Amino acid sequence: MEVIIVDTPQEGASLVTDAVAAILARPNPVLGLATGSSPLPVYDEWQRRYDLGEISFANARAFALDEYVGLPPDHPESYRAVLQREVADRVDFAPGAIQTPDGWSDDIPAACAAYDRAIRDAGGIDLQLLGVGSDGHIGFNEPTSSLESPTRIKSLTVQTREDNARFFDDDISQVPKHVVTQGIGTIRRARHLVMLVWGESKAEAVAATVEGPVTSMYPSTALQLHPKATVIVDHPAASRLEHAAYYQEVFDNKPEWQGIS
Ligand code: F6R
Repeated sequence: MEVIIVDTPQEGASLVTDAVAAILARPNPVLGLATGSSPLPVYDEWQRRYDLGEISFANARAFALDEYVGLPPDHPESYRAVLQREVADRVDFAPGAIQTPDGWSDDIPAACAAYDRAIRDAGGIDLQLLGVGSDGHIGFNEPTSSLESPTRIKSLTVQTREDNARFFDDDISQVPKHVVTQGIGTIRRARHLVMLVWGESKAEAVAATVEGPVTSMYPSTALQLHPKATVIVDHPAASRLEHAAYYQEVFDNKPEWQGIS
């Protein structure tokens, strides 16, 4: 695992976008998108470089990590709507090129299996963006999720619903109890995992993810099992890392050409 400590989220977003640009230059690029606050600086950077004519998503496909179950189809906080707003409306993905799990299906298990199949049929995900929940979830794989899980329906913890109430008028009763999420097994099949974490409130989650024991009680620790995982954090989020100085030294002495890919 590579841990990169940056001065600002914008600096992290720029590093990620360098890696994404290299993928976009190859045939059949497939990206994994996250929602929530953490990836927003990355989507800003995508738009900036797209507006400058430096990158194009016209040939790319993308798969979201997760979707709520039980929201009205036109709800502005459905992840389909969020990704339309934050990504599709700002760069040049082809219509329909961004897929989200189907939280509205009459047959959720079949829709979940179809989603994993669609990812496989697309050739797998080249780079998957991730945030981390304050309880260690990735996607919406809450504690005790199997580290080999496929895409499936999950129940959110009260903690996660409280954390996400900020997107629902600060009213937890509006936050759905169920979600469909890429499983940890699905996420682990992506060729490169890039986790973004900003702010001191996530410092404990970062320390557990990077330096804690691998356990389904803390799903983000599954990153330690991945051959190519990058965790990009700002200084407040890195504040509880025991080996922060080492990670910094490794990155400072990395060959210029290597990037994060
Ligand atoms: C979102 C997702 C979640 C978030 C996590 C952190 O698609 O899968 O795992 O990444 O809840 O959320 P933020 O970034 O809002 O702190």
